[in-house]
Amino acid sequence: MPELDSDLDKSSAAPFGGELTEAMESVSQEVALRGGVARLGDIADRPRLEAERLLAAVLGMERALLLAHPEVRLRPAQLQVYGDAVRRRAQGVPLPYILGRVEFYGLEMLVTPDVLIPRPETELLVETALEDLAGRIASGSSPLVVDVGTGSGCIAIALAATLPAVRVIAIDIEAAALHVARSNALRYGVENRVFCVRDDLLSAVAGPLDLILSNPPYIADHEWADLPASVRQEPRHALLGGPQGLSAIRRLLDQASFRLAHGGLLLVEIGSRQGDVVRSLAEAAFPTANIEILPDLAGLDRLLAVRKPSTPTLPSAPFPAERG
Ligand SMILES: C[S@@+](CC[C@H](N)C(=O)[O-])C[C@H]1O[C@@H](n2cnc3c(N)ncnc32)[C@H](O)[C@@H]1O
Repeated sequence: MPELDSDLDKSSAAPFGGELTEAMESVSQEVALRGGVARLGDIADRPRLEAERLLAAVLGMERALLLAHPEVRLRPAQLQVYGDAVRRRAQGVPLPYILGRVEFYGLEMLVTPDVLIPRPETELLVETALEDLAGRIASGSSPLVVDVGTGSGCIAIALAATLPAVRVIAIDIEAAALHVARSNALRYGVENRVFCVRDDLLSAVAGPLDLILSNPPYIADHEWADLPASVRQEPRHALLGGPQGLSAIRRLLDQASFRLAHGGLLLVEIGSRQGDVVRSLAEAAFPTANIEILPDLAGLDRLLAVRKPSTPTLPSAPFPAERG
């Protein structure tokens, strides 16, 4: 970061985080960005983009506006805040935790280290749910959805914000996560249709339910150490699902089997190598249902879809032979 360093050296202030004195001069946007890029080169795939996003956040501007105004300069206090942000990012803190927000399904979700950072692959669950919900709404119903393990509330809020007829029970076992989900619901004006509830999976919810959704913790415990350092900054309980990553999925299938309505749909996000085993678990829990494993955009197994038949059906297993 030679330019930034030399700029700061002029005023005897340490770059990015030492004591910045009032006497220090302002710094040009380009100098600040180059300093950020140099610091982020080892950690970020796109250091320039991340530096621009951090700088835009510090200046309270949209990134596009910042780029359209290269003449904007940073005052010493702003440079200090930017420097602190760059330093945290260089230490491996995920960008969304520093910015306090992330984009999901075209919406800006507030995030804190209490919640998983919503991932683009989870949009497949949202799209599949929206398709099902649109059909139900077209046939005159106002569906009730349950989102199990809501975290930031990203799934629940994306559905409620897209379809005004939808109500969602958003469940999480962590009170701190529900606090974030509630803030996001308020942000999008859907707090009257997204009900945040603290519960252990579906334990306190009675059926029958039309649509049960979940992105549960599904990483095997022993995989923790191999996860990228930045992912290990996210809450463990949001990621780890027991010895094979299947503990929450098994319990959820069990609970959902007698809560899902006839004609109802259960969607569960899964790990890319869990398709076969999760299909078997689902077949055992829902012997008469139509079961699919849907791939994500990368072609990897990503979503379990279980649809219960509209009318009660007997399992195809043979009846025990009649006696006598
Ligand atoms: C993988 S994160 C998903 C968060 C969010 N739905 C998303 O897609 O970004 C899993 C969430 O499930 C919650 N969770 C873990 N075990 C739970 C349980 N037994 N009951 C309810 N929620 C649970 C965690 O607190 C975490 O918020």
